[in-house]
Amino acid sequence: LGQTIVYRETIDSTNNLAQELANNGAMEGTLVIADEQQQGRGRRGRNWFSPPHSGVWMSLILRPQLPLAHAAQITLVTAIALAKALTRLTGVQAGIKWPNDILFNKKKCCGILTEMHAEFDQIHHLVLGIGINVNVPQEDFPEDIQHIATSLQAVKGTPIPRAKVVQVVLEELEPLYRQYVADGGFGTLRDQWKAHNITLGNEIIAHTAQGTIQGRALDIDEFGVLLVEQPDGEQKKIYSADIMFA
Ligand code: BTN
Repeated sequence: LGQTIVYRETIDSTNNLAQELANNGAMEGTLVIADEQQQGRGRRGRNWFSPPHSGVWMSLILRPQLPLAHAAQITLVTAIALAKALTRLTGVQAGIKWPNDILFNKKKCCGILTEMHAEFDQIHHLVLGIGINVNVPQEDFPEDIQHIATSLQAVKGTPIPRAKVVQVVLEELEPLYRQYVADGGFGTLRDQWKAHNITLGNEIIAHTAQGTIQGRALDIDEFGVLLVEQPDGEQKKIYSADIMFA
């Protein structure tokens, strides 16, 4: 991964350029990276704060030959790699909040935006967008995210070169990605995910497209689906949501 790197000083969104390159046949592992995004995108149409020289804003093109049903699991695989990488880089334990956030002390440092293209029921390509707040002093976050966001620098106390962050992330991701492809899914990585997660066992509020579910996060299955126990004892499967700790 990252054998080919496409760099831009400034860009709308690295995911957009990666999509375009992927549609034009770019190789698996092609990495698009920018110093600044002017329209950085988060999940659910949110904006992603991506100021110049302050973070790692990058997108990887992947072409796993797997059924479409397995595509969402790449986000969980990537989350494991990021939790490991960010822990290594800071010396402070990073935790995974299902499905795609990496947190330090309950503050978000990193998010993943996976976009996929399918051909019939097979994955054609995936664009794996990763945003990591690296050298953002805590007081520099915009007011509306000040209390929920953090950066590697804020956690570690010293700046970290962004190239080093990219290197460590790719080092951690590559073997996990190979395993996910070889095993045809996330199942064998589930224990590793659990070891790094901060979601299970907690009371959560999940905002899904179908409505809000509150309860205790019990487990994830071999597809990465979250199982929640509601106060009346009923268990619900959550396929996609934004979750908050209750
Ligand atoms: C989220 O937590 O909502 C996902 C954030 C993903 C941000 C990254 S930065 C690189 C890539 N390009 C984008 O526009 N978004 C992703």
